[in-house]
Amino acid sequence: MQSTLTPYTPFFKLRILTLLLLQLQILPTLSLSPCRTSCGNVAIKYPFGLDDGCGAPQFRHMFNCTTDLFFTTPSGAYKVQSIDYDKKTMVVYDPAMSTCSILQPHHDFLMTDIQSVIIPPSPDTIFVLLNCSIDSPVLNHYKNLCFNFSGHSCDELYGSCNAFRLFHLLTNSTPPCCFTGYDTVKYMSMNILDCTHYTTVINSDNLKGIGPLDWVYGIKLSFTVAETGCERCADSGGTCGFDTETVGFSCLCSTSMNATRECAAGSVTDEGHGHAPMLLFQAFVLILGTFLCMNL
Ligand SMILES: *[C@@H]1O[C@H](CO)[C@@H](O)[C@H](O)[C@H]1NC(C)=O
Ligand SMILES: *[C@@H]1O[C@H](CO)[C@@H](O)[C@H](O)[C@H]1NC(C)=O
Ligand SMILES: *[C@@H]1O[C@H](CO)[C@@H](O)[C@H](O)[C@H]1NC(C)=O
Ligand SMILES: *[C@@H]1O[C@H](CO)[C@@H](O)[C@H](O)[C@H]1NC(C)=O
Repeated sequence: MQSTLTPYTPFFKLRILTLLLLQLQILPTLSLSPCRTSCGNVAIKYPFGLDDGCGAPQFRHMFNCTTDLFFTTPSGAYKVQSIDYDKKTMVVYDPAMSTCSILQPHHDFLMTDIQSVIIPPSPDTIFVLLNCSIDSPVLNHYKNLCFNFSGHSCDELYGSCNAFRLFHLLTNSTPPCCFTGYDTVKYMSMNILDCTHYTTVINSDNLKGIGPLDWVYGIKLSFTVAETGCERCADSGGTCGFDTETVGFSCLCSTSMNATRECAAGSVTDEGHGHAPMLLFQAFVLILGTFLCMNL
């Protein structure tokens, strides 16, 4: 009995040929950057990276892509809704936060020292402290930290949001609230602030006359990008990254070549590897494939 895998049958040659052609298809993808460029439907570009060594080192270990993109801070993993690379903003959502429609136990929003410098909440993100006790510092010594948010009031919030109506109902009065900025919660925990809940609202610049039901709840972060020569690397077809040991800038040109500045023929490279061996191999595969094809 003769197997179709016996050498020299046309079937066998066809199999080899298929394998070789597959190789040809795979090789060009191997020569692309080692950095993933998206997670879910969010594009990942400099200064961010998912794979170690990609993006700017300042943002190292802050992102994680399971099915969705998550931004990790000491207080939790926040789902990234969108990133605007032109405006340099990123909108995240804390599923454990209270909003107009759901009341949840408070938990602080914490960032590392580095995060609060390179990717702090934007000025148009308002923190609303709810159901504060009359002893709260923001009603006493620090009352100037609360501002008039386009004429919106605590009553309006407790009145129009199902989630916040409870504060009003239980006491039959209007417990104080406070519209404030990130700096307030950065320096004072919710326990010190003595408010039982909070929520955050983005795009607060144009919410005059718009009710709490139509506000967008979430946190908009505003990031800064260090000037490292990324543009020069990107223009040469590379992906900006960093050396995982020295943390110095690295232009990732292919899986086998990283450059110090840009990907160009003859540029000085960290590793000294070029495209040449890959190209030679591809040529070899092509010739072998053609040869086998003619023999079929
Ligand atoms: C290039 O840099 C990336 C990210 O730092 C690293 O994973 C990879 O091993 C480097 N490749 C070479 C050939 O040095
Ligand atoms: C990755 O994201 C998940 C959220 O799905 C989070 O629970 C986990 O802690 C994150 N892992 C790291 C290493 O940040
Ligand atoms: C509002 O705050 C008071 C204490 O100031 C607390 O006893 C009460 O349970 C809070 N209301 C809700 C709905 O959590
Ligand atoms: C808040 O500002 C609005 C105008 O946006 C003004 O009409 C209102 O009187 C102010 N409220 C307080 C308490 O200052």
